Amino acid sequence: MTTTPSGDQIVRTFIDFFRERGHELITGGTLLPPSSDPVLFTTSGMHPLTPHLEGRPHPQGRRLVNVQRCLRTSDLDEVGDRTHLTVFEMLGSWSLGDYDHSQSLRWGYELLRDGFGVPSERLYVTVFGGDDEVGPDRESLRTWRELGLPVEPTRDENWWSHGPVGLCGPDSEIFVWTGGPGTPPQGTPTTDPRWVEVWNHVSMRHRRLGDGGLQPLRQPNVDTGMGLERLVTVLQGHDSVYDSDLFEPWTRILPPLWDLDGRSRRLVCDHLRSAIVVIGDGVRPTNTGRGYVLRRLIRRALTTLWRDDPSRTLSDLPEEVLRHTLDHFRQSRGTGLVREVLLDEERRFGRLLERGRRVLGRPEFEGPLSDEDYHYLHDTHGLPRDLVTTLRTP
Ligand code: ALA
Repeated sequence: MTTTPSGDQIVRTFIDFFRERGHELITGGTLLPPSSDPVLFTTSGMHPLTPHLEGRPHPQGRRLVNVQRCLRTSDLDEVGDRTHLTVFEMLGSWSLGDYDHSQSLRWGYELLRDGFGVPSERLYVTVFGGDDEVGPDRESLRTWRELGLPVEPTRDENWWSHGPVGLCGPDSEIFVWTGGPGTPPQGTPTTDPRWVEVWNHVSMRHRRLGDGGLQPLRQPNVDTGMGLERLVTVLQGHDSVYDSDLFEPWTRILPPLWDLDGRSRRLVCDHLRSAIVVIGDGVRPTNTGRGYVLRRLIRRALTTLWRDDPSRTLSDLPEEVLRHTLDHFRQSRGTGLVREVLLDEERRFGRLLERGRRVLGRPEFEGPLSDEDYHYLHDTHGLPRDLVTTLRTP
């Protein structure tokens, strides 16, 4: 690619590259893992493939490619900065006991350099340098040296696991230099943050057991994942994901609609966009589980909006952002239904706040609150602790 590629072009280039190399495209992935899965939302591209990485044959074969929407709430407090998102997409490729890790690394390099036009001088890679349990990843080290890329070995940063037990293995990460045109690459991925990790290639060949032991898998796999929003941001030369074209309708429409500082605008944009996608996958606001995550997203956005102007309302959100978001995430639900769910939650939250202000205005709640007060406010008036704290913040 010679000109700046669009987000859609980047997705197409990724999928075509792997299809040309015998990978089948998995479609129809949602944010909801199967009911047997204890995790609320899909958190990575490999997540829905867990049984197949464990050895069960996949109906589409042993070479797969996918764009998987994911949701992570572990970094919720960081959302609002320039890089963290709640809902994001992951480009992924897999070898289920087919080709080896070295082949995956070679293709990774080829796609970044020839498909996406990243010069090799702007690339750096890391590999697993070994620890007390598993030796260094010599195969990856050899492959990268043959390809002529600079390599930095690490320990913990190059071990990937899908939770405390289950599938895991050494990985190799590819970093792109983002120092800008006039600034030649400096340092290494662990010493200079301008090296941004874009693609993780996991050699998924172990299972962590409940007793802490490590068991080799009968079928060694390759699992790769590349966060789409970050990749697009790097390839388009931005330093904020919100400046990439993936957020175009949001970043054009929000500023004239609501006058917010940069951080608040990013938070509102992330949370509303994520809420739309979660609703699009069939979730409704509730007090537990997935519905509670959705409820928190909508209420956090509203709390931010209402901080300076309580008359702001989600009914002002233009059709275009709802439509664009649902279309982008390939969701068929109508915008009318999504808007209804958002507005219903807005009304409920508004009423709860009103009640909260009335109750907290009573003289007995003037001073510092005890745990007992918080329990009473929660159990009798339905006011959660974080909401009480927000309402009492001057
Ligand atoms: N599963 C790996 C990740 O999410 C590729 O980084």
